[in-house]
Amino acid sequence: MDRIRIVGGKTLNGIIPISGAKNAALPLMIASLLTDRTVTLENLPRLADVSLLVRILSNHGVDYSIDGRRQGEDPDSGQTVHMTAREIVDTTAPYDLVSRMRASFWVVAPLLARCGEARVSLPGGCAIGTRPVDLLLMALERLGASIEIDAGYVVAKAPKGLRGGEIDFPKVTVGGTHVALMAAALAHGTTVIHNAAREPEVGDLADLLTKMGAKIRGAGTSTIEIDGVARLNGAKHRVLPDRIETGTYAMAAAMTGGDVFLQGAQPEHLQAALDALELAGAHVESSPEGIRVWRNGNGIRPVDVETAPFPGFPTDLQAQFMALMTRAEGASRITEKIFENRFMHVQELARFGAHIRLEGDSAIIDGVPLLKGAPVMATDLRASVSLVIAALVAEGESMIQRVYHLDRGFEALERKLSRCGADITRISVGG
Ligand code: EPZ
Repeated sequence: MDRIRIVGGKTLNGIIPISGAKNAALPLMIASLLTDRTVTLENLPRLADVSLLVRILSNHGVDYSIDGRRQGEDPDSGQTVHMTAREIVDTTAPYDLVSRMRASFWVVAPLLARCGEARVSLPGGCAIGTRPVDLLLMALERLGASIEIDAGYVVAKAPKGLRGGEIDFPKVTVGGTHVALMAAALAHGTTVIHNAAREPEVGDLADLLTKMGAKIRGAGTSTIEIDGVARLNGAKHRVLPDRIETGTYAMAAAMTGGDVFLQGAQPEHLQAALDALELAGAHVESSPEGIRVWRNGNGIRPVDVETAPFPGFPTDLQAQFMALMTRAEGASRITEKIFENRFMHVQELARFGAHIRLEGDSAIIDGVPLLKGAPVMATDLRASVSLVIAALVAEGESMIQRVYHLDRGFEALERKLSRCGADITRISVGG
């Protein structure tokens, strides 16, 4: 299994190109099941989750081709993938695939909307919490589907097609909103989604569906209306830049000091995180080309944050911000409101010498002047990268195990950081 070795103490200086967003790419790829025409996605990140989803979708009948790299092209520029689900050959998504990537559960919506049936394995819990799918199933029932659970599988049926309805989410759910949007796009009549997620990735999915011929109003607000259409067409769409990758490197720059330009990043997609960084003492300057983040000389100030649905502070940046706060000049409190168990990084950050204690859904971090390199192990994607951020300033060598978590969601992480001066290397099996 690969490991990443980091020798801390280097400031980051340079340009980091921001990749296409993993959490936009996944629902966009799944939406290709809604049409028998070709959906072309540009700027798709080269990530393990994207490759796995390609495999899952091809089981359902999606043919795909990936454009070759052009001569002289930047190795970090995203790929272009053409996906065509001319015929759905299998409406079952099996346990061994869905259990490896929760988002693949969302295929339930296009399969049901297009074929009138879907049999999709329940995803089960994961390292960040129990993560039920009750609200996704409620949304499908509101559109007329019958839902049964059979031997660990959700069996969803709507033999006469889905029909529009009112969906009122008691809690903001990104996956629930994606599922509702995809299902409603092909339902008979109008659907209204109340308390919809406003995350930029929902807007990106709505943009693709609109290009495919869907009739959607209000995406990006908490009430979305969809007039169902009989069929959808192919379309071409560019995946939006990854706001979580952006925030992660912004925090790495604030942690190490130095000056980094996050090329292609869109500040409006992570304003709450940028505000928190400024309060912590970093400088942030946005332009149409990207975001510049720097911190020179001054120390890191403690800042309290609480995670919330968009436009609040994202749960997917909580671990990274905690890493930054371990070096703050004082105590800060980070409260996790989205997932009940998303503090698995706390014990690992402690291995660097961080002082953190948990109080219910909050972590209290007493900043320390020095972190020391250590062997650490990651438990999920965002937790792993918080360890990278800590290791970048920790004195001496750190070795990060279970790098496959990072490969799921951070494209070319070592290359992007080492180009900015970090001492970071991947040690491959046998290497
Ligand atoms: C998406 O997960 C993201 N995943 C997550 O990113 C992200 O942390 C999360 O949204 C919140 O922003 C992808 O986009 C692939 P939710 P999702 O439904 O859709 C509860 C990462 O690191 N809930 O918005 O699964 C749920 O337990 C990942 O990239 C129910 O109770 O999250 C949670 O407490 C991790 N019942 C809250 O809602 C349901 O049926 C929000 O979850 C569904 C959700």
